[in-house]
Amino acid sequence: MNAFKILLLHGPNLNMLGRREPHIYGSLTLAQINATLTEHAEARGVQLLCFQSNHEGALIDMLQAEGWDAAGILINPGAYTHYGLALRDALASLSAPIIEVHLSNVYKREEFRHKSVVAPIATGQITGLGWRGYLLALEWLLAEARPGTSG
Ligand code: DQA
Repeated sequence: MNAFKILLLHGPNLNMLGRREPHIYGSLTLAQINATLTEHAEARGVQLLCFQSNHEGALIDMLQAEGWDAAGILINPGAYTHYGLALRDALASLSAPIIEVHLSNVYKREEFRHKSVVAPIATGQITGLGWRGYLLALEWLLAEARPGTSG
């Protein structure tokens, strides 16, 4: 049992990373990204709970079950970013810092991707830095949210 737990949530279609439009999303699979992040977290004594779903309700169920005692939440909501109000409300109910991560730079892409319903309730957003965006977000959480390490 680890006192410091971070959730890493991935929304719809992100289970297809590696095969899905690699010129946009990169060639790493979700399993590879999760493994790298988990190794990074565990080396720092932190538990990383990784979860992906193609269903908004399943992501909400996970947040309700695990989000209340999480020290931070990293989430790539996929297309729910742009219209997932129920997911947004579930995130907003939690007190832990939330970092919204996108592999691609959503602001350089189609206009419907320019709006995020999650961003207004997130602590911050990283977009366009590929899989390393998750690593940077994790680093920020470890530095800012870990008890006794703020400042
Ligand atoms: C994404 C961007 C979204 O617009 C898209 O629907 C995704 C992936 C990204 O990581 O760049 O599924 O969140």
